[in-house]
Amino acid sequence: MLKTAVLVSGGGTNLQALIDASARGEMPHVSLALTVSNRAGAYALERAKAAGIRAEHLGGAAFEEELEALLREEDIGLIVLAGFLRILGEGFTRRWAGRIINIHPSLIPSFCGAGYYGLRVHEAALARGVKVTGATVHYVNEIPDGGEIIAQRAVEVLPGDTPELLQRRVMEQAEWIILPQAAEAVAAKLEGR
Ligand code: GRF
Repeated sequence: MLKTAVLVSGGGTNLQALIDASARGEMPHVSLALTVSNRAGAYALERAKAAGIRAEHLGGAAFEEELEALLREEDIGLIVLAGFLRILGEGFTRRWAGRIINIHPSLIPSFCGAGYYGLRVHEAALARGVKVTGATVHYVNEIPDGGEIIAQRAVEVLPGDTPELLQRRVMEQAEWIILPQAAEAVAAKLEGR
Protein backbone atom coordinates (compact mmCIF):
# COMPACT_ATOMS: atom_id res chain seq x y z
CA MET A 1 0.00 0.00 0.00
CA LEU A 2 1.16 3.55 -0.77
CA LYS A 3 1.08 5.92 2.22
CA THR A 4 -1.08 8.83 1.07
CA ALA A 5 -1.47 12.39 2.35
CA VAL A 6 -4.65 14.40 1.68
CA LEU A 7 -4.36 18.21 1.62
CA VAL A 8 -7.54 20.07 2.53
CA SER A 9 -8.87 23.57 3.26
CA GLY A 10 -12.59 23.21 3.89
CA GLY A 11 -15.45 20.86 4.64
CA GLY A 12 -13.64 17.72 3.54
CA THR A 13 -16.43 15.93 1.67
CA ASN A 14 -13.86 14.65 -0.85
CA LEU A 15 -11.67 13.45 2.02
CA GLN A 16 -14.75 11.70 3.41
CA ALA A 17 -15.30 10.03 0.05
CA LEU A 18 -11.72 8.71 0.21
CA ILE A 19 -12.21 7.51 3.80
CA ASP A 20 -15.47 5.75 2.92
CA ALA A 21 -14.02 4.17 -0.25
CA SER A 22 -11.07 2.89 1.78
CA ALA A 23 -13.42 1.42 4.38
CA ARG A 24 -15.30 -0.39 1.57
CA GLY A 25 -12.02 -1.89 0.37
CA GLU A 26 -12.14 0.05 -2.90
CA MET A 27 -8.61 1.48 -2.57
CA PRO A 28 -6.37 -1.54 -1.78
CA HIS A 29 -3.20 0.32 -2.85
CA VAL A 30 -3.93 3.47 -0.81
CA SER A 31 -3.18 3.92 2.89
CA LEU A 32 -4.64 7.23 4.14
CA ALA A 33 -1.86 8.21 6.56
CA LEU A 34 -2.01 12.00 6.92
CA THR A 35 -4.35 14.95 6.44
CA VAL A 36 -2.94 18.50 6.32
CA SER A 37 -4.96 21.71 6.20
CA ASN A 38 -3.78 25.27 5.60
CA ARG A 39 -6.86 26.43 7.53
CA ALA A 40 -7.10 25.74 11.28
CA GLY A 41 -10.88 25.40 11.47
CA ALA A 42 -11.31 23.15 8.44
CA TYR A 43 -13.97 20.55 9.24
CA ALA A 44 -11.95 18.16 7.08
CA LEU A 45 -9.54 17.85 10.04
CA GLU A 46 -12.42 16.62 12.24
CA ARG A 47 -13.31 14.04 9.61
CA ALA A 48 -9.71 12.80 9.56
CA LYS A 49 -9.54 12.54 13.37
CA ALA A 50 -12.85 10.67 13.46
CA ALA A 51 -11.36 8.18 11.00
CA GLY A 52 -8.17 7.79 13.07
CA ILE A 53 -6.04 9.58 10.48
CA ARG A 54 -3.27 11.94 11.62
CA ALA A 55 -4.59 15.51 11.14
CA GLU A 56 -2.32 18.57 11.11
CA HIS A 57 -2.85 22.30 10.50
CA LEU A 58 0.09 24.23 9.03
CA GLY A 59 -0.40 27.98 9.08
CA GLY A 60 3.01 29.60 9.07
CA ALA A 61 4.90 31.32 6.27
CA ALA A 62 7.04 28.19 5.90
CA PHE A 63 4.05 26.07 4.85
CA GLU A 64 5.80 24.06 2.14
CA GLU A 65 8.92 23.39 4.22
CA GLU A 66 6.81 22.23 7.16
CA LEU A 67 4.68 20.15 4.80
CA GLU A 68 7.75 18.47 3.27
CA ALA A 69 8.94 17.56 6.78
CA LEU A 70 5.59 15.94 7.61
CA LEU A 71 5.56 14.06 4.30
CA ARG A 72 9.05 12.68 4.97
CA GLU A 73 8.17 11.84 8.57
CA GLU A 74 5.17 9.80 7.39
CA ASP A 75 7.01 8.31 4.38
CA ILE A 76 4.29 9.58 2.03
CA GLY A 77 4.33 8.35 -1.59
CA LEU A 78 1.18 10.06 -2.95
CA ILE A 79 -0.43 13.46 -2.30
CA VAL A 80 -4.13 14.08 -3.00
CA LEU A 81 -5.42 17.68 -3.08
CA ALA A 82 -9.08 17.55 -2.00
CA GLY A 83 -10.67 20.97 -1.77
CA PHE A 84 -7.22 22.41 -1.09
CA LEU A 85 -7.20 26.13 -1.85
CA ARG A 86 -3.53 27.08 -1.73
CA ILE A 87 -1.31 27.25 -4.82
CA LEU A 88 1.79 25.09 -4.35
CA GLY A 89 5.08 26.44 -5.69
CA GLU A 90 6.82 25.19 -8.83
CA GLY A 91 9.68 23.65 -6.85
CA PHE A 92 7.26 21.60 -4.76
CA THR A 93 5.15 20.42 -7.70
CA ARG A 94 8.29 19.47 -9.69
CA ARG A 95 9.67 17.45 -6.75
CA TRP A 96 6.33 15.62 -6.51
CA ALA A 97 5.62 15.34 -10.24
CA GLY A 98 3.61 12.19 -10.94
CA ARG A 99 2.83 11.76 -7.25
CA ILE A 100 0.38 14.61 -6.64
CA ILE A 101 -3.22 14.73 -7.95
CA ASN A 102 -6.10 17.20 -7.62
CA ILE A 103 -9.90 17.13 -7.97
CA HIS A 104 -11.42 20.08 -9.85
CA PRO A 105 -15.20 20.59 -10.05
CA SER A 106 -15.49 21.10 -13.83
CA LEU A 107 -14.62 19.31 -17.06
CA ILE A 108 -11.15 20.78 -17.66
CA PRO A 109 -10.29 22.78 -19.82
CA SER A 110 -13.59 24.54 -19.07
CA PHE A 111 -13.89 26.78 -16.03
CA CYS A 112 -10.45 26.12 -14.57
CA GLY A 113 -7.23 27.94 -13.78
CA ALA A 114 -6.56 30.95 -11.59
CA GLY A 115 -9.65 32.20 -9.79
CA TYR A 116 -11.81 29.15 -10.60
CA TYR A 117 -12.47 27.33 -7.32
CA GLY A 118 -15.42 26.32 -5.16
CA LEU A 119 -18.76 27.90 -6.02
CA ARG A 120 -17.11 30.25 -8.56
CA VAL A 121 -16.67 27.31 -10.91
CA HIS A 122 -20.39 26.52 -10.86
CA GLU A 123 -21.37 30.20 -11.10
CA ALA A 124 -19.28 30.44 -14.28
CA ALA A 125 -20.80 27.25 -15.74
CA LEU A 126 -24.34 28.53 -15.10
CA ALA A 127 -23.47 31.99 -16.48
CA ARG A 128 -22.15 30.37 -19.69
CA GLY A 129 -25.25 28.23 -19.97
CA VAL A 130 -23.52 24.86 -20.38
CA LYS A 131 -25.88 21.85 -20.34
CA VAL A 132 -23.22 19.45 -19.07
CA THR A 133 -20.48 19.98 -16.53
CA GLY A 134 -18.72 17.56 -14.18
CA ALA A 135 -15.41 16.95 -12.41
CA THR A 136 -11.82 16.20 -13.34
CA VAL A 137 -8.94 14.53 -11.52
CA HIS A 138 -5.55 15.62 -12.90
CA TYR A 139 -1.88 15.51 -12.02
CA VAL A 140 -0.67 18.73 -10.42
CA ASN A 141 2.03 20.81 -12.09
CA GLU A 142 3.08 24.45 -11.82
CA ILE A 143 0.04 25.62 -13.83
CA PRO A 144 -3.21 25.81 -11.78
CA ASP A 145 -5.37 22.88 -13.04
CA GLY A 146 -2.84 22.44 -15.88
CA GLY A 147 -1.54 18.91 -15.35
CA GLU A 148 -2.33 15.75 -17.36
CA ILE A 149 -5.96 14.64 -16.97
CA ILE A 150 -6.45 11.28 -15.19
CA ALA A 151 -10.25 10.94 -14.97
CA GLN A 152 -13.42 12.88 -15.75
CA ARG A 153 -17.14 12.35 -15.16
CA ALA A 154 -19.99 14.37 -16.66
CA VAL A 155 -22.99 15.73 -14.77
CA GLU A 156 -26.16 17.25 -16.28
CA VAL A 157 -27.03 20.87 -15.54
CA LEU A 158 -30.76 21.09 -14.72
CA PRO A 159 -33.22 23.97 -15.26
CA GLY A 160 -33.39 26.14 -12.17
CA ASP A 161 -29.99 25.04 -10.92
CA THR A 162 -28.34 27.39 -8.46
CA PRO A 163 -24.56 27.26 -7.94
CA GLU A 164 -25.18 25.45 -4.65
CA LEU A 165 -27.48 22.84 -6.18
CA LEU A 166 -25.07 22.25 -9.07
CA GLN A 167 -22.06 22.02 -6.73
CA ARG A 168 -23.80 19.39 -4.66
CA ARG A 169 -24.75 17.32 -7.72
CA VAL A 170 -21.20 17.53 -9.12
CA MET A 171 -19.84 16.39 -5.76
CA GLU A 172 -22.30 13.49 -5.36
CA GLN A 173 -22.36 12.30 -8.98
CA ALA A 174 -18.76 12.99 -9.99
CA GLU A 175 -16.16 14.14 -7.45
CA TRP A 176 -16.85 11.60 -4.75
CA ILE A 177 -16.80 8.80 -7.36
CA ILE A 178 -13.78 9.61 -9.52
CA LEU A 179 -11.41 10.82 -6.79
CA PRO A 180 -11.18 7.46 -4.97
CA GLN A 181 -11.01 5.65 -8.32
CA ALA A 182 -8.20 7.90 -9.56
CA ALA A 183 -6.27 7.74 -6.29
CA GLU A 184 -6.38 3.94 -6.42
CA ALA A 185 -5.34 3.84 -10.09
CA VAL A 186 -2.37 6.18 -9.54
CA ALA A 187 -1.28 4.38 -6.36
CA ALA A 188 -1.45 1.01 -8.12
CA LYS A 189 0.60 2.36 -11.01
CA LEU A 190 3.22 3.86 -8.68
CA GLU A 191 3.42 0.64 -6.66
CA GLY A 192 3.81 -1.33 -9.85
CA ARG A 193 6.99 0.58 -10.76
C1 GRF B 1 -15.81 22.05 -3.39
O1 GRF B 1 -16.11 23.21 -4.16
C2 GRF B 1 -15.45 20.94 -4.31
O2 GRF B 1 -16.22 21.00 -5.49
C3 GRF B 1 -14.01 21.23 -4.62
O3 GRF B 1 -13.47 21.80 -3.42
C4 GRF B 1 -14.55 22.34 -2.63
C5 GRF B 1 -14.58 21.78 -1.23
O4 GRF B 1 -14.52 20.40 -1.28
N1 GRF B 1 -13.30 20.04 -5.02
P1 GRF B 1 -14.46 19.53 0.09
O5 GRF B 1 -15.87 19.35 0.56
O6 GRF B 1 -13.64 20.32 1.10
O7 GRF B 1 -13.82 18.23 -0.30
